[in-house]
Amino acid sequence: PDIKPLVVGNWKMNGDRSMLDQLALTARGLDDDLSERVDVALCPPATLTYVTTTLVEDTNLLVGAQNCHAQEKGAHTGDISAEMIADCEAEFCIVGHSERRTEHGESDATIRAKVEACWRAELTAIVCIGETETQYDAGEAEAVLGRQLMESVPDGANENTTVIAYEPVWAIGTGKTPSPDDVANIHAFLRDRLVERFGGPGERMAILYGGSVKPDNAAELMSVVNVDGALVGGASLKAQDFLAICEVY
Ligand code: G3H
Repeated sequence: PDIKPLVVGNWKMNGDRSMLDQLALTARGLDDDLSERVDVALCPPATLTYVTTTLVEDTNLLVGAQNCHAQEKGAHTGDISAEMIADCEAEFCIVGHSERRTEHGESDATIRAKVEACWRAELTAIVCIGETETQYDAGEAEAVLGRQLMESVPDGANENTTVIAYEPVWAIGTGKTPSPDDVANIHAFLRDRLVERFGGPGERMAILYGGSVKPDNAAELMSVVNVDGALVGGASLKAQDFLAICEVY
């Protein structure tokens, strides 16, 4: 089936109000022609979620958050629920990014609960999975990814509620990327696992590639079979670079 590509920018812990002009530039560059070909979302830090959705309201740019808590509300100081993100009128939430897994010790079970929270709040969850360099070198990538995919994604996932993002940890922010052949093999493996588990919806779920996607390598990476878009970190901070990546479609 035809999957509409999706390019998601993740600003991580970058961006204050002075960066909103980059955001506006991105939104303005996303004309109807381009957004006909590709869905584009930006995930600024939570402090900017609401001002962002307000700013891009009449544009084609979609908005997401970078993390959420599994509970709807309660005594969880400093946390933000999926419902709060939805209340800010965002549509996506990244869940299980490797930086959350590492810096905050998030397990697959925690991530699965957060994905369920996203569904409860009617947010589309972008579920991140990825092997470390050690695991890659030991030939364990598929075993790790298969396990993360099985345990981080709840039963009942479909193409409207869930997007998968494959991000080799060793490619994040390093300028290193796997070869197109490696990406093709991993994405084919992930597609098989998704179809095996979810049937038709597994054929239609988008599988993004993330890790050092830049304007000069995006065309090659995005042309790989079963790569349905990108999760972009550093290169999403500048409107010009981010739009150049979207424009490979
Ligand atoms: O969420 C985005 C990824 O971690 C990729 O980051 O494009 O800076 O390598 P990067």
